[in-house]
Amino acid sequence: MKVAEITQETADAVTLHFEHPERNSISFIPGQFLTLIIPVNGSKIRRSYSLCSTPDDPRLSVTIKRVEGGLMSNYILDNVKVGQEIEVMAPLGNFNLKADASKKRHIYLFGGGSGITPLMSMTRTILKDEPQSRVTLIYGNRNENSVIFKSEFDRLEAENPERLKVVYVYNESLKDATEQQEENIGLLDRMMVIKLMDKCKAPGYSDESFYMCGPEGMMNEVRDALQFMKVPADRVFKESFVAPTTPEDKNVTGANETDEIVTQTVTIIYEGKEYKVEVEPNETILEAGLRDDIDLPYSCQAGLCTACRGKCLTGRVHLDEREGLSDSEIAQGYVLNCVGHPLTSDVVIEIG
Ligand SMILES: Cc1cc2nc3c(=O)[nH]c(=O)nc-3n(C[C@H](O)[C@H](O)[C@H](O)COP(=O)(O)OP(=O)(O)OC[C@H]3O[C@@H](n4cnc5c(N)ncnc54)[C@H](O)[C@@H]3O)c2cc1C
Ligand code: FES
Repeated sequence: MKVAEITQETADAVTLHFEHPERNSISFIPGQFLTLIIPVNGSKIRRSYSLCSTPDDPRLSVTIKRVEGGLMSNYILDNVKVGQEIEVMAPLGNFNLKADASKKRHIYLFGGGSGITPLMSMTRTILKDEPQSRVTLIYGNRNENSVIFKSEFDRLEAENPERLKVVYVYNESLKDATEQQEENIGLLDRMMVIKLMDKCKAPGYSDESFYMCGPEGMMNEVRDALQFMKVPADRVFKESFVAPTTPEDKNVTGANETDEIVTQTVTIIYEGKEYKVEVEPNETILEAGLRDDIDLPYSCQAGLCTACRGKCLTGRVHLDEREGLSDSEIAQGYVLNCVGHPLTSDVVIEIG
């Protein structure tokens, strides 16, 4: 897709606006991401970027924030120009919020830093297509200068004073802060979440859902606060941009204590074809498939985005990481090939 425009959002974040391919308008659900594939230093690098535009917008937009030492984010910020064509995979992802005009609900969004991107798409879609619903966004940033989309949220809030409330939480103190701003300075931790949610409660909404995207530490605090408030787990949805580091979040799954990972042949069914792939102990099912030149789908290669998801029809698979899969997907037999290792000789995985 061609980059039609680039917007500088903050000192270290830009939005790339893509034109839809000719005669092929691309549809997506708010919360989904694009995978950009760009040659960097001689190899084709893939990274996922959540769409911040809405499905009705004339362009598809993604916002990229610079990551210190990061390969793709720095390359994009320093090199990509208007008019450049970039290879892009179709939208994917299960962190979805579909608008439903018949619903009347209070949707709480918790964002941190660049994690605001899918939440921007969700906010604008709900305001436009779900007229009875209300959105509260609690948005954590280091300081005012690092807030992505501040002026857009100000505009949306002014246009929808009864339906959108944005609460900014800053880690650093503000110059000339009002008393109310002063109260929201600090970390977006569980105490802050409980305090802010109490203030943002709105009467008349029995249906509530909760979506979060941001740094791991922030999301753990939001999760704990929601658990403390007895929010049912099936009302809470999260997207991680990086793999969790804390052991309790690893949720490694699949293997019994007696299982050993040895070379096994896996059958992959993809786009109507069947492939036999020998998977060595030191590689994942995805790596083995790509080594055999099978054009399998993937994006993050870290068990986060689900682009490589398949259903295990027979056999057992060990996952190094399961952040991207819900408990119900695990129960249904879904696996992530980018972090998957066969445990038995009869593994058959169907993709798509
Ligand atoms: C589903 C999904 C959606 C995403 N959407 C967006 C988006 O809308 N905007 C956006 O800017 N990024 C988004 N990301 C993150 C993005 O895909 C890249 O991981 C990010 O741009 C860093 O890539 P890199 O090549 O620059 O860094 P790498 O060279 O891959 O990594 C360098 C180091 O930085 C760490 N790192 C990677 N990403 C981050 C991060 N976000 N914060 C802190 N440390 C990090 C890595 O763990 C590694 O240690 C998303 C990721 C996923 C899985
Ligand atoms: S490629 Fe992202 S989960 Fe496997």
